[in-house]
Amino acid sequence: MSQQKLAIVTGGNKGIGFAIVQGLCKKFQGIVYLTSRDEKLGKEAVDKLKELGLNPRFHQLNIDDPKSVETFKNYVKTNYGGVDILINNAGIAFKGASTEPFGVQAEVTIKTNYYGTLRMSEAFLPLLKNGAQLIQMSSSAGHLFKVPSPELRSKLSSDQLTIENLSLLMEEFIRSAKSGNNVELGWGSSAYSISKVGVSALARIQQRMVDALYPDKNISVNSCHPGYVSTDMSSHKGPLTIEEGAVSALYLALAPHGLKGKYIWSDCAVIEWTAPNAPY
Ligand SMILES: NC(=O)c1ccc[n+]([C@@H]2O[C@H](COP(=O)([O-])OP(=O)(O)OC[C@H]3O[C@@H](n4cnc5c(N)ncnc54)[C@H](OP(=O)(O)O)[C@@H]3O)[C@@H](O)[C@H]2O)c1
Repeated sequence: MSQQKLAIVTGGNKGIGFAIVQGLCKKFQGIVYLTSRDEKLGKEAVDKLKELGLNPRFHQLNIDDPKSVETFKNYVKTNYGGVDILINNAGIAFKGASTEPFGVQAEVTIKTNYYGTLRMSEAFLPLLKNGAQLIQMSSSAGHLFKVPSPELRSKLSSDQLTIENLSLLMEEFIRSAKSGNNVELGWGSSAYSISKVGVSALARIQQRMVDALYPDKNISVNSCHPGYVSTDMSSHKGPLTIEEGAVSALYLALAPHGLKGKYIWSDCAVIEWTAPNAPY
């Protein structure tokens, strides 16, 4: 079994994930896995980085597919024993012009952004090594105050919130989206936003969980907003390059920052997730 340190990035074949892999290959003293759901696209991305003299490895990984996640987890466990850095970057967003019914958009978006991130975290949590960094890719849209209802905000930010109850809240949102009363019930009108609020809430809960489960391991779980980045997701409207979009995730992965259960901005500033002061 390899004794080297290990970093894993989901959705690494393009966009911000690709730049995160590139940054890790340059700065992290260990093995870096670029993973992607499409094997051909992932291998092409690896080849691109090899042309630049970098040396990432590849594994197929679809975060929506329990079998794919299980296969990769077993592969990592057998070959490396554990993980030092896991960056859950993979995500989706419907375009504003999408004609899919809102209920479908809500279900599909929560499925990948929230449940996919949860599935990856739950699979890899037991493999996190001493001092490991778990980074959940959120968004400015994932700030708590994107949820209009004070009552929902209070539930989502409660120190007593469990993953089970957070998932129930995500289900409640999907039901409201399907019934067409999501705005009336205080969820607002963005499925992407609720999915990313879920991701940031998840990071806070998971920090409490690892502290309780593995008190001696010093594991950090944080979420970040990468900035508005020029990628396929933003239809290349974002002003930041993918390298600039990778800065906050790389900071959480590499710097001795001491942050636990926090939400940070693209400039690496800690933003109070439960206060209405995000710099949007
Ligand atoms: N761009 C922005 O301005 C911005 C702002 C805030 C937050 N973010 C977040 O940053 C992250 C990266 O976004 P991006 O802008 O780089 O988007 P992107 O260019 O569309 O890349 C998204 C990546 O996620 C992958 N992915 C999607 N579903 C997946 C699944 N089920 N399993 C595995 N991989 C999957 C995609 O794979 P395929 O190529 O196979 O589709 C792709 O590699 C996302 O979580 C996004 O929400 C982006």
